[in-house]
Amino acid sequence: MSNLLINGGNKIVGSITAHGAKNSALPLLAATLLCGGQSVLHNCPDLSDVDAAMKILSYLGARCKREGSSVIVDSSNIQKNEIPDELMREMRSSIVFLGAIIGRTGGAVVSSPGGCELGPRPIDLHISSLKQMGVVITEDYGYLRCEAPFGLKGADITLQFPSVGATENIILASVLAKGETIIRNAAKEPEIIDLADFLIGCGAKIRGAGNDTIHINGVNWLGTTEHYVIPDRIEAATFLAAAAATKGKIEVKGVRPEHMRSILSVFKESGCQVTCKKDSIYLENNHELRGVPMIKTLVYPGFPTDAGPPILTMLALAKTPTLFIENIFENRFRYIDELKRLGAKIRTHGNVALIDSAQKFTGANTSATDLRGGAALVVAALAAEGQTKIDNIYHIDRGYEKIERCFEILGADIKRI
Ligand code: EPZ
Repeated sequence: MSNLLINGGNKIVGSITAHGAKNSALPLLAATLLCGGQSVLHNCPDLSDVDAAMKILSYLGARCKREGSSVIVDSSNIQKNEIPDELMREMRSSIVFLGAIIGRTGGAVVSSPGGCELGPRPIDLHISSLKQMGVVITEDYGYLRCEAPFGLKGADITLQFPSVGATENIILASVLAKGETIIRNAAKEPEIIDLADFLIGCGAKIRGAGNDTIHINGVNWLGTTEHYVIPDRIEAATFLAAAAATKGKIEVKGVRPEHMRSILSVFKESGCQVTCKKDSIYLENNHELRGVPMIKTLVYPGFPTDAGPPILTMLALAKTPTLFIENIFENRFRYIDELKRLGAKIRTHGNVALIDSAQKFTGANTSATDLRGGAALVVAALAAEGQTKIDNIYHIDRGYEKIERCFEILGADIKRI
């Protein structure tokens, strides 16, 4: 297993381009299953989760290949509708394939996705929505067996919670269904809009993506298209947090600042200078950060849970406290014990964390607990005095493309060993 070795203390300085968004690329790859030919996804990040998604597509009968940052998928010939357990387990978000497989083949057999590092990942909203569209689902022996004996039909679905994955699954199941589907209390994340844009490019009839009510009118057939994956707002937030934590200055290019308003306001409130152009963000921090009185993670456009770990880490160095409330995932704070080994002064109680001023971090041996928690340890290590080793970095590789290379370009002393 490889580790990251970081000698902290260098300022993060320079310019870097964000990669395509993992959380857009994954549902987009699932969506290619619905197309009758060859689709191309440009700006597709080279991540282990994307590799896992491509393995699932190939297993089902699609032909996938990567050409640089483009992924080409030919779904002319889908022979299977079952995803084996080991492939389901490789990627937590493989549940998003469910709607696409049923949409394409009329049925699906997938293993119930295990929990993940963030706690149980229930799929009750996915299941209840698909059932309203005529899918008969039986769960036994750890498998979900789904059949649409009379085909998928449109439904008027209200989500109890604006779940990103459930919204994506309903869209994927409805674009080829009979009739109209309405999704009420839908997720409004930019990744939902990106998925709708791709499907509309293939001929789907979708209105309202990005709002809380989405209308989809089923069509008989979808063509193909070429699509550029939107930039990764969470990766961008991680780069910005590293620059802020090391009193550096950074330009992150190839981003959509309008996707990051709630994140950027936290950087400004903590005392960073932030200026935005149409597709780039410049951040500079040359003094001690201020704590932010209260941060609550919320669904979009609120402060995103995924940006929490790197930004909470940066604020652990601020001279005044921050109260951080995590409202989306049950145990998103697992990485905080590891942060404390580097000197963070954080007390947690349930989903609330009180971050006191740590003055400084000092290097230590640590372990990544999950994807964004691992990224938080990198931010802390870059700002720490001395050497930090981070193991279990496979978590980080799920969502950051060559993270050590990115930070090396930005002046860090970091190696993958
Ligand atoms: C997506 O996960 C992202 N993953 C997550 O990013 C992100 O944190 C999350 O959305 C919220 O923005 C991908 O897009 C691949 P949800 P998803 O369904 O779809 C509960 C990362 O680090 N819920 O909006 O799983 C659920 O337990 C990852 O890149 C139900 O109760 O998120 C959670 O508490 C982490 N029942 C909350 O809703 C359901 O049927 C949010 O889940 C579904 C969800």
